[in-house]
Amino acid sequence: MRIDIITVVPDLLKSPFEASIMKRSIEKGLVDVQLHNLRDYTTDNYKQVDDYQFGGGAGMVMMVEPIDKCISKLKAERTYDEVIYMTPDGDTLNQGIANQLSLKGNIIILCGHYKGVDQRVREHFITKEISIGDYVLSGGELGALILCDSIIRLIPGVLGNETSALTDSFQDDLLAPPIYTRPADYKGWKVPEVLTSGNFPKIEAWREEQAYQRTKERRPDLLDD
Ligand code: ADE
Repeated sequence: MRIDIITVVPDLLKSPFEASIMKRSIEKGLVDVQLHNLRDYTTDNYKQVDDYQFGGGAGMVMMVEPIDKCISKLKAERTYDEVIYMTPDGDTLNQGIANQLSLKGNIIILCGHYKGVDQRVREHFITKEISIGDYVLSGGELGALILCDSIIRLIPGVLGNETSALTDSFQDDLLAPPIYTRPADYKGWKVPEVLTSGNFPKIEAWREEQAYQRTKERRPDLLDD
């Protein structure tokens, strides 16, 4: 999978791809992440990427031309399955969206800044708009990182068996059950006996029940679906 991220602050995006699982997935050749500085696609001396809004109003708008130049250059080099725009008015990211995107070949992620992008960018280039929640960030970069992490960890081969994504919260519309590791007794705080019983059908049934109870208590909306 190849992910091209278009941004005005590439520095904000570099280090998360140089650590932990995202780094390993890149080293294993399972994903190729390329950052593109939108200012490299400007033609004026000031490397201007934004301008005042037509009709007046506070806040600058990202101009269509540098974005067109950058996306068109990338599209001339390969085909893309999705061109995603990070924006608070997009579809809220969830496990289903992450699952779908992890199956794609090449995607572009455009990070908005200032007030956002000129509407014509959204109409002519963007195929999917994603929000990471009902709050406004100063730019789409942190959202893009969250989106990338949620996608990359699902690519086959990225996680080992011991960290399988299949048992994550949300993967089957249930939250994950409680988990424990050694020691079985710490200061008298004991691990539920069933987990050390060696009876795997019983352990599985206990986990399913716990997952259901936890979901009912914390996120009953997931059960409605
Ligand atoms: N840009 C600003 N706020 C955002 C959000 N909540 N999700 C995605 N991109 C954003």
